[in-house]
Amino acid sequence: MYFPVYRPRRLRADANIRRMVRETSLSVDDFIAPLFVCPGRGVRHKISSMPGNYQFSIDELVLEAAELKSLGVPAVILFGIPESKDELGTGAYDDNGIIQQAIRALKVEVNDLLVITDVCLCEYTSHGHCGVVEDGRIDNDKTLELLAKEAVSHARAGADMVAPSDMMDGRVGFIREALDEVGFDRITLMSYAVKYASAFYGPFREAAESPPQFGDRKSYQMDPANAREALREAALDIEEGADIIMVKPALPYLDILRSLRDEFDHPLAAYNVSGEFAMIKAAAQKGWIDGEQAMLESLISIKRAGADMILTYFAKEAARIL
Ligand code: PBG
Repeated sequence: MYFPVYRPRRLRADANIRRMVRETSLSVDDFIAPLFVCPGRGVRHKISSMPGNYQFSIDELVLEAAELKSLGVPAVILFGIPESKDELGTGAYDDNGIIQQAIRALKVEVNDLLVITDVCLCEYTSHGHCGVVEDGRIDNDKTLELLAKEAVSHARAGADMVAPSDMMDGRVGFIREALDEVGFDRITLMSYAVKYASAFYGPFREAAESPPQFGDRKSYQMDPANAREALREAALDIEEGADIIMVKPALPYLDILRSLRDEFDHPLAAYNVSGEFAMIKAAAQKGWIDGEQAMLESLISIKRAGADMILTYFAKEAARIL
């Protein structure tokens, strides 16, 4: 059926018909809001490269999380900025660490909010790497022990879900086993299964004060040139017991999201990372694009590519609109 018999524009003629034929939808149900938590009281420290995002002390974090919840956002993911850092990132698995305290506060003060924690060492290590450094290299298996301790400590504090973002080999299985061993079989595991070594994490590293102090993360995070490897990474994590698999970043990797969606049945998350957020904000501030439209278009594209849920710094703003 060709023109003039078939006219695609008939299905775009007005808002009602466009709503009826729309294939993908965006809802607050899709959002996970990343939040940064720091020591102190009454702290709401602006992150310059991420307008509208802050480092919150725990009292302020509770207010922000309650607001997100009231807007309908079901979940938050927490990142900690500890009082001090050391070689082994001990702040990450300290039962009285910043994240552990934050989880306990959220569980007491915000009703029925799903609390996810990022499980990684880079915010807690003095060298800023996501693992144990030995002779200038990141030691995989020694790191696993610490990640497992961190995940168990988060669970003990009351986290509902843990999300390892370190990209060490075997960490999903290792963490799952450690959780189960101490009776935390109910804790959900969302794996940063496919995480690329990306320039788009720049603003996050300002926010979390976590840039690597030497070298880069290319020996553990993935090469942006690789797509087949993404399938292998995801398959491994599923085999090791991941409940949800994630692709990160989102927008430059929509092809990867689509191929994981087609290949696996597991719920699929996408991390719309700090640099993706900052680019839209910066261009909008300059008046070069319509920030709100660009936000919604980006978010729907991530859903269209196959994501079930989106970790995004736009969560609050988008929830207000939806
Ligand atoms: C920790 C971690 C990072 C991000 C999430 N968890 C930084 C990194 O790997 O360097 C980045 C998130 C973002 O840019 O929004 N490993």
